[in-house]
Amino acid sequence: MFSLILLSVSSGVAGAAVDKRIPVPAGYVAPSYYPTPHGGWTPDWSESYHKASLLVSNMTLAEKTNITAGSGLFMGRCVGNTGSALRVGIPQLCLQDGPLGLRNSDHITAFPAGITVGATWDKDLMFRRGVAMGEEFRGKGVNIHLGPSVGPLGRKPRGGRNWEGFGSDPVLQAFGGALSIEGIQSVGVIATMKHLIANEQEQYRMYSLAQPGMSSNVDDRTLHELYLWPFAEGVRSGVGAVMMAYNAINGSACSQNSYLINGILKDELGFQGFVMSDWLAQLSGVASALSGLDMSMPGDVYIIPLLGNTYWMSEYSRSILNGSIPVDRLDDSVTRILAAYFQMGQDRNYPRPNFDTNTQDAEGPLYPGALISPRGIVNEFVNVQANHAEVAREVARDAITLLKNINGSLPLSRNSTLKIFGTDAEKNPDGINSCADQGCNKGTLGMGWGSGSARYPYLDSPIDGLKSRSANFRFFNTDSLPSNSNPAPGDTAIVFVSADSGENYITVENNPGDRTSANLNLWHNGDKLVQDVAAAYSNVIVVVHTVGPVLLEAWHDLPSVNAVLFAHLPGQEAGDSLMQILYGDVSPSGHLPYTIPTSESNYPSSVSLVSFQVGQPQDTFTEGLYIDYRHFHAANITPRYAFGHGLSYTTFAFSNATITPVTPLTATPPPRPAKGSTPTYYTTIPPASEAYWPANFPRIWRYLYPWLEKPDADRAAAAVNSSTKYPYPPGYSTTQTAGPASGGAQGGNPALFNTAYRLTVTVTNTGTAPGKAVAQLYVQFPAGIPVDTPTIQLRDFAKSATLAAGESAALELRLTRKDLSVWDVAAQNWVVPDVQGDYGVWVGGSSDALRVRCGTVGAACEERGEGPV
Ligand code: NOJ
Repeated sequence: MFSLILLSVSSGVAGAAVDKRIPVPAGYVAPSYYPTPHGGWTPDWSESYHKASLLVSNMTLAEKTNITAGSGLFMGRCVGNTGSALRVGIPQLCLQDGPLGLRNSDHITAFPAGITVGATWDKDLMFRRGVAMGEEFRGKGVNIHLGPSVGPLGRKPRGGRNWEGFGSDPVLQAFGGALSIEGIQSVGVIATMKHLIANEQEQYRMYSLAQPGMSSNVDDRTLHELYLWPFAEGVRSGVGAVMMAYNAINGSACSQNSYLINGILKDELGFQGFVMSDWLAQLSGVASALSGLDMSMPGDVYIIPLLGNTYWMSEYSRSILNGSIPVDRLDDSVTRILAAYFQMGQDRNYPRPNFDTNTQDAEGPLYPGALISPRGIVNEFVNVQANHAEVAREVARDAITLLKNINGSLPLSRNSTLKIFGTDAEKNPDGINSCADQGCNKGTLGMGWGSGSARYPYLDSPIDGLKSRSANFRFFNTDSLPSNSNPAPGDTAIVFVSADSGENYITVENNPGDRTSANLNLWHNGDKLVQDVAAAYSNVIVVVHTVGPVLLEAWHDLPSVNAVLFAHLPGQEAGDSLMQILYGDVSPSGHLPYTIPTSESNYPSSVSLVSFQVGQPQDTFTEGLYIDYRHFHAANITPRYAFGHGLSYTTFAFSNATITPVTPLTATPPPRPAKGSTPTYYTTIPPASEAYWPANFPRIWRYLYPWLEKPDADRAAAAVNSSTKYPYPPGYSTTQTAGPASGGAQGGNPALFNTAYRLTVTVTNTGTAPGKAVAQLYVQFPAGIPVDTPTIQLRDFAKSATLAAGESAALELRLTRKDLSVWDVAAQNWVVPDVQGDYGVWVGGSSDALRVRCGTVGAACEERGEGPV
C-alpha cells in the first residue's frame, strides 16, 4: 500500500508545515464554516437517528471514540476496521474497497469498471450492477463499501483514476454514482461516495512530511456546477458515507476543510451520514473534528503510520476530557455512524467478515500490522458470486462502443477467417492476478490498477471467446506484426490494443498512476501494430481496452481500418461480451462517456498534469466549466469522436417529441424547508474514568485504542481549567444554525429537483438489425442571458429496450429546476437566469447528432437539419 512509500518519504526529512495554509492564487478561498451541523434533521433518517442517539446516550467516552477511528493500518481483516462497542452491541465495522468489486478476495465477481458502466448509458444496468455488488459485499461481511467513485470527474484526460467513475460529465457521473448507491444500499451495505473533491490527478495528491498535497484551486460556481453535482445526487439518494479526498481545495486539506465538510456537504447538501478520511489523509486531531470529519481511516497518523500513533482514538478521548472538542461534536459523529448502520438495517443479522484483505491463506495473523499477533482462521472462502456474472457480462457487452464501421465489416460472418494480433487479446501469461492490485499491463486489460481493482476469479478473454465460438482464427500473441501471419485476401485482421492507468502508489511502465509517460497514446507500441497490420491486411478491426481517451490519429483513417470498437474495461467478462457484438448476436449500444480528441493540444493547457513544484503543488482550474465537450464546443474544435458518440448495426430516428411544463419556474427556488429536530446531546464533559484502560486488558502493540492511562486521563480532565486553550480557528462557533437557503433536504433545496419539464420522444429503429437506442438530452441556455454558460450540457438520458427493425418506442426524459439554473455566487443559490427565456432542449443519439429541438417558450418541438454544435 501507500504506507511504505510514505515511510520512505518521511524518514529523515524535516517537517513541512501542514498546520499553516500555504497561499494559493488570488480569488480562491476556503473560508471557515462552523460548527458542524448536527445530523438527523431530515425525515428520511429520523428513525435511525432516534435509535442511534438512544444508544449514544448510553455509551462511555471510550466506547464513543472507539467508533470514530480505525484500529490501525493492517490491524484487521478489512482495509479499514473501526473499534467496537460490544457492551452496547456494536461490532467492529469492516470497510473494504472498491468500486468494481471486492478487492483482494476470492470467489467474487470482478465487475466492469465505472467508466464501462457509464458507457452503457443504461440506468437500469447501473442499478442492477450496484445490487449485485452490494450482495457480494454483504456476503463477505463488509459493512461499508468504499465506492462508488464520482471524483475524479475526468477533468484531466491523463488522470490515473478517471476509470473508477462513470465519465467526464457531471450528469452521467451523477446517475452512475447515485444508481450504484441505490443498488448497493438496497441490500443493506453502506455505500461510500468518494473522493470529495477535485482529486483530478494522482501524483502529488498526498500530504507527507516532505510536501503538502496538491491544492486544487476551484471557484465556487465551477465547484457547484461540475464537481459537486454528482455528490449532490448521491446524497439525495441517501448515501451513508462520504470519503474526503487527499488533496486540498483552495489551500485547505479536504479532510479538515470546514467549508467543504461542515458547509457544503453537511449543511447545503444536507448529508446525514458520516464522513471518513481517505487512508492516512487525516492531518490533525482537533481541527479535523471541528471541521466535520467523523471517522479517521485507517486510524494512524499520516506521518509515520504503524507505530501505534493516532490523532483520534485515545487522543480524541483526551481532547474531550480537556475540553478542546465539544462533547456534542463527538456525539454527533458517533450518532451519524450508527444512524447509517441502523438506516441500512445492519443491526439485524448482518454477517461478520469472513475474508482477509491481507492474505490469501486460510490462516494467518489477526493483526498483521502488529509485530506479534494472535493467529486464526482469516479466510473462509465464501462464494458470493451467485449469478452476478450475468449482469457483469451485460454491462460489458452494452458498453462496447462502435466508433467506426465501414464496408459492413462488422458484424463478422460465422465463417470469417480471422487473424488476431496483440497481447491484449489473451490473459496475462504470468497469471491473471500475478500483479498485486493489477499493477501491470500484461494481457487483456479488464481494469486499471490500485485500490479500485479486484482479483479476477477468472478472466474470460477475447481468445477464450473466439474458442467457444469455434471461430476460424489464428492468434499471434505479440505486439509487433509477425512475419509468419501469411495475409490472404479473405482475411479479417482484429488488432487488440490497450491503455492503462491507476492509483499513485504503484508505477507501471513509468506511469505513476496518471498517464505521465504514456501520454494519450496506446501502450506497447499499439499504433505501430495497427499500422503494420493495416499495411498487410485489407480488412482490419481494432478493439481498444482503455481507461479513457486515447489518440487514434496514427491509423484511424488508413484505408484498411474498417472498424474501431472501444470495449473500455470489461472486468472478468471480456470475452463473450465482445463476441456477442463482433458476431452480431447483439448490436453495439455503448456511447462514449468522454470526448476523443485528435491531439492532446485540443485540451486547455490547465488540464495537463501538474509536475513537481517546490512547496505545495498548485493546480488551478482556470478552465472553469470548460472541460471535455464543453471545452471543445467553446473552442470550436472538432474532436475525432464527440462525447456520446456510438454506432449500432442499425440506425435510429428521433421524432414526435413533446415538451410539457410541469412545475412553473421562478428565478429563485421557493424557500427551503426548515431543519427538523436533531438529537439533544449533553455538553457536560464525562468523567475521566470513562477513558481509563480496563483492568488486565491484553494490549496488542501498535493497535489503536481509545483508552488513556489513569494519570494521563486525570491530567487531561484537570486541564479543562487551564488558561491555555486550543487555538480555535477564526470564525469558530458552537451555535447550530438554520442552514443556507440552498439547502433543505438531502441533496439541497428539494425544489431544485422538481420536474420543470417532461419530455417524450419516439425513437424508431430505421435499419435492418435489432438494437437499443440511447436518447441524450442536452440543455442550451437562452441567448442573451448575462451569465456565460457552455453551449450545451447533458441533463438526462434514456436507453430503449431492444427494438426490432421498424419498431418504435417512446422514451421519457425530464428537466429539473436545477438543470435550468446556474449557481449564483453572489446569491449563494441556484438561480434560473431567465425565467421567460427560450431554453433549447436538444435530444439525439450523441452530442454532435442532436436534431430534435424543443423550446421552453411555446413548449413545442421540431426536427432541425442542424444541431447546436
Ligand atoms: C486510498 C484510495 O484513494 C481510496 O479510494 C481507497 O478506498 C483507500 N485507499 C483504501 O484502500
